[in-house]
Amino acid sequence: MIKFDVLTLFPNMFDGFLSESIIKRAIEDKLIKVDITNFRDYSDLKNNQVDDTPYGGGEGMVLMCDPIVKAIEEKKKKNSKIILMSPQGKRFDQKMAMDLSKESHLILVCGHYEGFDERIKSFIDEEISIGDYVLTGGELPSMVLIDSISRLVPGVITEGSYENDSFMDNLLDYPTYTKPREYRGMKVPDVLLSGDHKKIDEWRKEKQIESTKEKRPDLYKEKVIKEIGKYSLIDDNSNKSLVSINIEDSYNFLPNNKIKKSDLASISKVMIVEPTFIDKIARQNVEKKIAILMKQANIVLNDETDDEGAMYVLGEIDRMQGLLLTQYAKYLGMEYVSLMQIKLEALKNGINTKMMAKMNIQNFETKRGRGR
Ligand SMILES: C[S@@+](CC[C@H](N)C(=O)[O-])C[C@H]1O[C@@H](n2cnc3c(N)ncnc32)[C@H](O)[C@@H]1O
Repeated sequence: MIKFDVLTLFPNMFDGFLSESIIKRAIEDKLIKVDITNFRDYSDLKNNQVDDTPYGGGEGMVLMCDPIVKAIEEKKKKNSKIILMSPQGKRFDQKMAMDLSKESHLILVCGHYEGFDERIKSFIDEEISIGDYVLTGGELPSMVLIDSISRLVPGVITEGSYENDSFMDNLLDYPTYTKPREYRGMKVPDVLLSGDHKKIDEWRKEKQIESTKEKRPDLYKEKVIKEIGKYSLIDDNSNKSLVSINIEDSYNFLPNNKIKKSDLASISKVMIVEPTFIDKIARQNVEKKIAILMKQANIVLNDETDDEGAMYVLGEIDRMQGLLLTQYAKYLGMEYVSLMQIKLEALKNGINTKMMAKMNIQNFETKRGRGR
C-alpha cells in the first residue's frame, strides 16, 4: 500500500482522475490511498493568501513558502518522501516510477503561477519534472506520477501486463494485435497464431529490439551499453547476423563466423582489456616494428649491392605507415602517429637517397663507358 498526499490549490482537478478505471479500483482495493489537500487552508494571511509578487520585479505571482511548509509538516511521517513538481526537476521516467513505487508515502507538491519561492527547496527531497515543457500547474504532473507509480504497485494490474511495457529494461514494447485476423488487407503475423510460445517470445523480443533501435536509438544504445558494459554489438540487418563487436573508443573485432543475434549467448570467449593496457601494447608493437625496420634499413644502407633488400624495406615502411593510420591512430592518437611517421619517412628518405645516388653513379659510369 502506498499513500499519496497531494498539496495543491486546485483539488477539484483530481476528481475525474481518481474516480475512474484502474486508479479508482486500486483505491477501492486499498492498494493505494490518495489524499488531496488544498494548501491555501494553511495560510495565516488575510483571505488565505498563498502567493505574492516576486522580489526584484517581474511578471506573475510566486507561491510563498509558509502555507506549503506547514502543510508538509502536518502530512510528513517518518518514511515520507517529499516531491516538488517542477519543470526544473529531474526528468521523470519508468525507472523513477519503479523506484518510487517502493516508497510508502509520497507527498506531491503542485506549484502554480510563476512557481515557488526558491527557499521551498530546503523542505523537499526531490524535484521532478514530467518533461521539457511548462504546464500551468503541478496538478497534471502529479497525476502522471500517481498513475505511473500506482500501476507498478503489486496487485494494481497483473505483473505480466507491465513487465514488457515500453521503457522497462530500456526497450520499447513489442507490437500487439487483436481480432480480426485480417484488417483491410493487413494480417496478424503468423507466429502469433502458431501457439508456439517459445517462438512468440523470441519474435516479441526481436521486435522490441528492432523498434527501440529504430524509434529510440538513445535507449537502444543505453540498453546495449548497460548489458555488455562499454561495448556494442554491430549487427547486419540484412541477414540478422552479428558482424562486429565494438569496444567503445577502442578495438573492433569480428566474430569468427557470422553469428545470429539469437546466438549471442553462445559467444564463449571474449577477453576485455583495459583501454590503457591496449594503448601500452599498441605502443610496444609500433616501437618493436619500427626498431626492426631500422635494423633492416641499416643493413641495406650498408650493402651496396642489395637493391632487392632496399625495395623490400621500402615496401615494409609503406605498409607500416598505412597501419599506423588505419589501425593504431585510434588507440595512440594522431600526435604519436605523426611522430612515428616522421621517423619512418626519414628511413625511407635515407634508402631512397642512397638508391638515387647509386643510380646516378651507374648512369655516370654507363655514359663514361660509352664515351670511351
Ligand atoms: C507555470 S509553472 C512555473 C514554471 C517556472 N516559472 C519555470 O519556468 O520553472 C507552474 C507550476 O507548474 C508545475 N509544472 C509546470 N511544468 C511542469 C513540468 N514539466 N513538470 C512538473 N511540474 C511542472 C510546477 O509545479 C510549477 O511550479
